[in-house]
Amino acid sequence: MMSTEKFTAVKGMNDILPDDAALWEQLEEILRGWLKSYGYRNMRAPILEKTGLFARGIGAFTDVVEKEMFSFVDRLNGDDLTLRTEFTAGVVRAAIESNLTYNGPQRVYSMGPVFRHERPQKGRYRQFHQLSVESLGFAGADMDAELMVMLRDLWDELGLTDVRLELNTLGVAAERAAHREALIAYFEAHAELLDEDARRRLHGNPLRILDTKNPAMQDLVNGAPRLVDYLGAESSARFAHVQRLLSDVGIAFTVNPRLVRGLDYYSHTVFEWIVNSDTLGSQGTICGGGRYDGLTELLGGKATPAVGFAIGLERLLLLTQDYLKQDLAPACDVYVLHQGELAARAAFASAHQLRQIGLSVVLHCDAAQGAGSFKSQMKKADASGAAYAVILGEDEVANRTVTIKPLRDGAEQVTIDAAQAATYLMQKIAGV
Ligand code: HAM
Repeated sequence: MMSTEKFTAVKGMNDILPDDAALWEQLEEILRGWLKSYGYRNMRAPILEKTGLFARGIGAFTDVVEKEMFSFVDRLNGDDLTLRTEFTAGVVRAAIESNLTYNGPQRVYSMGPVFRHERPQKGRYRQFHQLSVESLGFAGADMDAELMVMLRDLWDELGLTDVRLELNTLGVAAERAAHREALIAYFEAHAELLDEDARRRLHGNPLRILDTKNPAMQDLVNGAPRLVDYLGAESSARFAHVQRLLSDVGIAFTVNPRLVRGLDYYSHTVFEWIVNSDTLGSQGTICGGGRYDGLTELLGGKATPAVGFAIGLERLLLLTQDYLKQDLAPACDVYVLHQGELAARAAFASAHQLRQIGLSVVLHCDAAQGAGSFKSQMKKADASGAAYAVILGEDEVANRTVTIKPLRDGAEQVTIDAAQAATYLMQKIAGV
């Protein structure tokens, strides 16, 4: 016999139901307006990429690549594929493939689901959503700073005050290599204090050891050689300039020398915006980013400087949902309800007419089983989130009128000539 056991969603992957989806749409609309005001254009790469892209782009010794990728072999042709773990590698791959920066730099953004096989908890999911913003072809420190200023603007627009900016520089490859040698020598000299993870990473990516959450290793990590002592004059000056630009426009930040980020493609500036309250539990980072000047070349393209960031949208929504709810637009303008056969026909035509003049209209639609009492229809009208109910009963049909009842502001209902209903509603909804 066929099983009738019910299915559940994949662990760590959330359904976004209509009430919540309304907030998502509102947030996305604000984000799109904000991005446009800074000249960013949307681009969309596929959700699946070849596994090697992430392994090479993000780095073989990162948590993301080592433990968190949803990878599988395409059983039809044997390709190794991975659900995107972030946008940057795919965007850069697409930019190389299409010569996107051939005629000059590009400001682009992508938004959508991203997959990481992490242990789910509040603010951490296996399918989550990012807004990823990439400035491709910009070498100057001004772009690093502009991105952070831009984010400050967004937090203000979303009523988010309780966030801080942390900043660091990772210098250039040669500086990181010198630091890396020093780190390896230091950790080798203290090999007995390393945990298993650290031992495994020692020669692959010792920088990642600095990221350790293991309390037993904190003293060791605190005494480790610091990258800042290996920076050349140019990198130091560049970092100082980023900080000066931020200070010029009054953006507060702290330099955190331990901020290394979890992805290997970064150079020079890296930054994170972190929420101070414990609303997100231990997942306080709402946005992370930095410069990735070497990534295009690493992925087989012509050297192209670039800088960007990604916002975790679930986290941002958890922090801003109350603020967003304050001016959530009505789900639709009008709910049309009716009683009696003639009224049902009049309602059908009226809904059509109202939509043609540009209103969004939900028609009460179970007429086949009998429309239900006005009371039960009114409940549905309320639940629909409409701004107005348009009511058609036998009296209205006989008198060629309609009754219009505001559903949201407690104002009195009116009964008016049916021919004037459209104009009346248009004016009301436009706030005239
Ligand atoms: P990331 O720091 O790996 O950076 O992720 C960016 C943001 O995504 C995090 O700050 C966090 O808000 C959110 N996030 C990460 N993992 C999860 C999860 N499991 N559940 C919910 N939210 C999560 C990047 O992905 C880079 N590609 C950012 C970038 C763009 N750098 C340059 N350009």
